[in-house]
Amino acid sequence: MLPHRSVLIIPDDEKGYELDLFCVPKHYEEDLDRVIIPHGLIMDRTERLARDIVRDMGGHHIVALCVLKGGYKFFSDLLDYIKALNQNCDKSVPLTVDFIRLKSYCNDQSTNSVKVIGGDELSTLTGKNVLIVEDIVETGRTMETLLSLLSECNPKMVKVVSLLVKRTPRGSGYRPDYMGFEVPDWFLVGYALDYNEYFRDLGHICILNEKAKVKYKV
Ligand code: IMP
Ligand code: MG
Repeated sequence: MLPHRSVLIIPDDEKGYELDLFCVPKHYEEDLDRVIIPHGLIMDRTERLARDIVRDMGGHHIVALCVLKGGYKFFSDLLDYIKALNQNCDKSVPLTVDFIRLKSYCNDQSTNSVKVIGGDELSTLTGKNVLIVEDIVETGRTMETLLSLLSECNPKMVKVVSLLVKRTPRGSGYRPDYMGFEVPDWFLVGYALDYNEYFRDLGHICILNEKAKVKYKV
């Protein structure tokens, strides 16, 4: 039997929240429709993911591998929660960090090619317990490509945590080991998720409006 993987589901009819109820940067006020996941909720869910990961991987040395750029906020906050657990629990897990940069997106469309465009040599991960930290899994192609590259280097164990997974007919069926939120088939920005590099400097996860897609198009 497959292990049960818990995830907070955001339904297709989710209305989110009006922008006026939260603080968003002035320079993005005209670009956003609604707040879908407020920053505080992201943090609360991340705290629980940290606990689940330490429960399962505690006792082993973990190399946390951040998938840049979109994963950097989640990576940093998740590691802070793991560090807090390490300081306060009987069971603790030594952590080191690594980074890889991948690119697969242009405007709001996933492209068929996933490119590694920077980061450390994956060969340093041989024999290690690796926790891949990603912002969002959509088709699953990025993660499947990374997992296959990584398997050539023979790590001891690989687990994947993604803050978001998208319900999409374009999905390959791939599901990460740990997931924060399952979201509808919408293009989301904020909390380091970008549209052509914009909106990484927005704290909440929001829906972009159609005007903004044209304004920031490349
Ligand atoms: P996949 O290869 O289709 O699973 O796409 C994964 C990558 O596409 C993620 O790591 C993101 O960088 C990007 N991506 C997918 N959906 C979104 C979105 O809604 N907003 C921003 N980036 C996204
Ligand atoms: Mg990403």
